[in-house]
Amino acid sequence: MARDRSDKIFVFPRWTWVLRPGFAAAVAGGLLYAALIVWLGFSPKTTDVGYAPEQPVPYSHALHVGQLGIDCRYCHNTVEQAAHAAVPPTQTCMNCHAMVRKESEKLIGVRASYASGMPIGWIRVHDLPDYVYFDHTAHVRRGIGCVSCHGRIDSMDVVYQFAPLSMGWCLDCHRNPERHLRPVEFVFQLDWVPEEDQLALGRRLGEAGGINPPVDCNTCHR
Ligand code: HEC
Ligand code: HEC
Ligand code: HEC
Ligand code: HEC
Ligand code: HEC
Repeated sequence: MARDRSDKIFVFPRWTWVLRPGFAAAVAGGLLYAALIVWLGFSPKTTDVGYAPEQPVPYSHALHVGQLGIDCRYCHNTVEQAAHAAVPPTQTCMNCHAMVRKESEKLIGVRASYASGMPIGWIRVHDLPDYVYFDHTAHVRRGIGCVSCHGRIDSMDVVYQFAPLSMGWCLDCHRNPERHLRPVEFVFQLDWVPEEDQLALGRRLGEAGGINPPVDCNTCHR
């Protein structure tokens, strides 16, 4: 006797056919969603590369560093001693601007801050999430130059974020620091180029200094 298989093979009831277009739409939507994640994941918006907020005073590194040749430490004087590289107080600007261009409209914000004692409201360009620990000293004292992470600040009229500051970016250098290591005396000199092969120099400096950047999680997440 022929068995009735209808109880073994599940057959979608006829009424479900009306759902088919919806199913196709869901698949298409899913693909779009995946594409969007990939696209956003690599777009400058989510990595913040190129972020260049307009500052309250049109201060230019290209002028002060590139043309006038002022050393980074004149203004960011904590970069060798502390985790954070302090942005200078108004007094530092007034060391010169009490005399230089003291009528300039571009310096109204500086004079107002100096008169009132209220700091200039500089907008942060680089900002890691709070759960990440970063320390300038650990890098600057070991021979990683500002230029490796901030690019050619000395040619920027407006500072922009040069590197993605993602975990992958940090780890990429922690695994292969020889591509970036330079003698510590050239850390602040952005246009410095090695006279020999960078990899050979980096390996030698790394060995001599016992430089071995950690990659375990609690280095950066504590
Ligand atoms: C005359 C003072 C002065 C000098 C010299 C100077 N800076 Fe700055 N720097 C500032 C001020 C003011 C700001 C905040 C306004 C801005 O972002 O443009 C700043 C901002 C920055 C930022 C962005 C900080 C943030 O918000 O994330 C970086 C990076 C930076 N400087 C690097 C350097 C490097 C590298 C040098 C040396 C090659 C240097 N600076 C020299 C005054 C200075
Ligand atoms: C290994 C990469 C690296 C190097 C080298 C480096 N910086 Fe930074 N810098 C960063 C990161 C990352 C931040 C954001 C820190 C945060 O959000 O906590 C930052 C932030 C800053 C800031 C904003 C204030 C702060 O500390 O958050 C200034 C100013 C600055 N850097 C200046 C410098 C100068 C000057 C040098 C060279 C002497 C330098 N940096 C070298 C990665 C680097
Ligand atoms: C070591 C001296 C020195 C220091 C310190 C200094 N400046 Fe200047 N600044 C100058 C000189 C020189 C000029 C160019 C004047 C010219 O073009 O004749 C200038 C030009 C400027 C201008 C353009 C003015 C204009 O009318 O075009 C601004 C804005 C400015 N500085 C802001 C700042 C700020 C903000 C600080 C502090 C973070 C600062 N400066 C620190 C020397 C200095
Ligand atoms: C261009 C290379 C480079 C980049 C980019 C870089 N680092 Fe480093 N980092 C180093 C080197 C070199 C050392 C020093 C290792 C040593 O002293 O043996 C170091 C040391 C450190 C230390 C101190 C470790 C310790 O306990 O001694 C911390 C924390 C750190 N890095 C965090 C970060 C974070 C967070 C980022 C990304 C936002 C980052 N680093 C990006 C090269 C880099
Ligand atoms: C050299 C520094 C460094 C080390 C080592 C490191 N991280 Fe991170 N991590 C970062 C930075 C920087 C970010 C922030 C990335 C961003 O803002 O996009 C981050 C972000 C994260 C996030 C959040 C990701 C997200 O999408 O929000 C997680 C989770 C994480 N790390 C886990 C780990 C684990 C687990 C390890 C050990 C295997 C580790 N990290 C080692 C620097 C580091």
